Amino acid sequence: MTKQCYLRGFGSFAPPKVLTNDDLATFVETSDEWIKTRTGIEQRHIVDPGQCTSDLVTEAAKAALNDASLAVADLTHILVATFTPDAYCPNTACVVEDKLGTKGLMAMDMSAACSGFVYGLQVARGLVSISDNATILLSGAETMSSRTNWKDRNTCVLFGDAAGAVVISPTPGPNCAELIDVEVSSDGALRDLLTVTGGGSSMPYTLDQPVPAEHFVMMQGREVFKHAVRSMTSVCETLLERNGLTNADIDLLIPHQANMRIIDAVGKKLDMPEGKVFVNLQKYGNTSAASIPLALADARAQGAIKPGMTVLLTTFGGGFTWGSALLKFL
Ligand code: UT7
Repeated sequence: MTKQCYLRGFGSFAPPKVLTNDDLATFVETSDEWIKTRTGIEQRHIVDPGQCTSDLVTEAAKAALNDASLAVADLTHILVATFTPDAYCPNTACVVEDKLGTKGLMAMDMSAACSGFVYGLQVARGLVSISDNATILLSGAETMSSRTNWKDRNTCVLFGDAAGAVVISPTPGPNCAELIDVEVSSDGALRDLLTVTGGGSSMPYTLDQPVPAEHFVMMQGREVFKHAVRSMTSVCETLLERNGLTNADIDLLIPHQANMRIIDAVGKKLDMPEGKVFVNLQKYGNTSAASIPLALADARAQGAIKPGMTVLLTTFGGGFTWGSALLKFL
């Protein structure tokens, strides 16, 4: 039987170093005007050498636990959604477990590219249902700069590094949100449109081989754009219909922060007024799996989310994967 499931604490962390559009224009042929007009992005945060995904998650986790008035010792599971982990092995969740100073938890990474966090909500919901008393740290986190080809202007202007985290449990707490429903989907036939294949088993490296371009994000931007708008819209419609809701019942839409034009198009198709669509893309760029939990934490901090509000999340990413989740803030 499905148990009720609550998001109890919200936290985020972006590394302090900021790379502006003008900074980018010093080493790749682009301009602040092009980037702002085509994407809405003004700057992105980038890790310092030595800083990695687990560091970002650890900070976001501490903030989320603090927000939930919970302790590290309360956690039973750590789930990290990322496709830029610290390493293939050990998984980032185990590193985070150690950095938080705990052990004995179920600690696992999940990969669904930008959709990782919403996929993670579905996994967490399942874990809450089958566990006696789960207290799950779910983070979406990326160090996109480690997989960015800084010579490719088609992609390098888009991404940023950050982590967001929530604590999920079967019991509510102050300022929490009930996770009402989640819908996720995918289409692997479209996998080649957005890839990081280098170093995987389909393209293994050999010793002394120079790093190939495939080590970094490769994307057919226009195609991704079209599918993103279509999938994010339709998955929201499915979720709303299943829950007997219409767009008028939604107080805030939090879409994956990939491109302002994608966000605008999804908002329009769902008939959401601009003021009901949350945007923080200008500050962070596309932080992939971190985008939604970072936006959730930001929206909470800015007072854009208030008790009683119904919030709809929607995302899209490589795979292709996509999904939507419905939250009711208490
Ligand atoms: O998280 C999910 C994954 N990613 C996404 O959601 C991204 C989806 N796609 C997009 O956001 C957009 O397709 C982009 C922002 C990547 C590109 O915007 P676009 O309007 O689709 O531009 P385009 O790729 O069609 O390129 C238009 C022109 C090209 O020049 P020509 O061939 O018309 O002369 C590009 O070479 O813009 C050029 N261009 C740039 N110019 C200046 C591409 N990147 C840049 C750049 N600066 N950074």
